[in-house]
Amino acid sequence: MSKKLFIETLGCAMNSRDTEHMIAELSEKEGYETTTDFKEADLILINTCSVREKPVHKLFSELGVFNKNKKEGAKIGVCGCTASHLGKEIIKKAPFVSFVLGARNVSKITEVLHKDKAVEIDINYDESEFAFKDFRSSPYKAYINISMGCDKSCTFCIVPKTRGEEISIPDRLIIQEAQRAVERGAKEIFLLGQNVNNYGRRFSGEHEKINFTELLRRLSKVEGLERIRFTSPHPFHMDDEFLEEFASNPKICKSMHMPLQSGSTKILKDMKRGYSKEWFLNRVEKLRSIAPEATISTDIIVAFPGESNEDFEETIDVMKKVRFDQIFSFKYSPRPLTEAEKFENVVDPAVASERLSYLQALQQQIIDEKNASRIGEVHTVYFEELNADGYVSGRSDNNLMIKVKGSEELLGTFADVKIIQANRTIFTGEILA
Ligand code: 5AD
Ligand code: SF4
Repeated sequence: MSKKLFIETLGCAMNSRDTEHMIAELSEKEGYETTTDFKEADLILINTCSVREKPVHKLFSELGVFNKNKKEGAKIGVCGCTASHLGKEIIKKAPFVSFVLGARNVSKITEVLHKDKAVEIDINYDESEFAFKDFRSSPYKAYINISMGCDKSCTFCIVPKTRGEEISIPDRLIIQEAQRAVERGAKEIFLLGQNVNNYGRRFSGEHEKINFTELLRRLSKVEGLERIRFTSPHPFHMDDEFLEEFASNPKICKSMHMPLQSGSTKILKDMKRGYSKEWFLNRVEKLRSIAPEATISTDIIVAFPGESNEDFEETIDVMKKVRFDQIFSFKYSPRPLTEAEKFENVVDPAVASERLSYLQALQQQIIDEKNASRIGEVHTVYFEELNADGYVSGRSDNNLMIKVKGSEELLGTFADVKIIQANRTIFTGEILA
């Protein structure tokens, strides 16, 4: 009987890719098979996120539940960003945890497994030449890391402390990984990094100096590859060359994530984002002028220390001007090891909640209007998921989620679909004959 692995993944797409890699390592070298029931698992892993405070609090109660109900002799490991950040404190607080493995060290999963109470959290560890295994949770699209870590110093963000300094992965490894994914049937790749359009800033060894735009050009030549997506780019690095490549290269999907964080130039300065409200709007304008079909999503933090009503109004002003297609919005959460943790002028929590609700209500209204206006549009959909209700869903080039009546034969294929109905999270469409 094979050993069973239960793994819970929190946080971002990079964590999902790290999870895929750990599953591959544990299955190849240790014979583990995954299970969705932690009670029957021999190994329970939590791949954690520490970007906001709430999930970190939840970690310890969750660990308690796992420990109480786990199979006898099962091991529990804590991986990911909270592992990097809290290190051996995790074992102090939860002594039943067998090992702690940081976000920068996932390639060491089979090593720590056999060392009781191992804590591997070196953020300078270099995994950039380490080929991530080809296990994919979806056969249709492949997540591929292009860089690790982050060299920015946004004052609210803990990530540079959990994932370390930025190192780009050599393009030959990325291209090979894309080729292998295509050979196995994937038609789409999803490039991952904390700051993808800063690609090429630093390699661990000798490497030809190429930037993200050049990497995109090279990847788009991979035969059989139809679609390239990426996340997250940084508005500061959105130069004309990059936006023009994005607009003109037919393999690059026309959806851009542009994390605004705040619309107030003063707050952006305090956040050390490196751009102003005007620069952000200018980049949106440039993008829309050359790729009008592109959808734009964003991240916004409300109630950063010192955010006045006027500052918040600046954010609302950007929302009204840009009319984003999707917004991920958060209340500012003070994080250890960050500069902003020590900032004064903390915003009253009631005001923070009010601002978040106001912003989210405005966005709902914008989305309802935008979605209704899309009825009748025709999009090429790449089908990836079988839904329970006799529908199959997938994404348009510009990242709209669309479902049609159908069955599994549609999976992994493209079809032109006319949108006939819109609701808030998914469109319904009909395949054009
Ligand atoms: N508080 C609230 N939101 C945060 N984010 C990052 N750090 C914090 C924080 N301390 C948000 C940013 C980022 C997204 C991944 O999480 O908007 O883009
Ligand atoms: Fe969370 Fe950031 Fe780590 Fe991703 S990189 S898991 S978002 S803290």
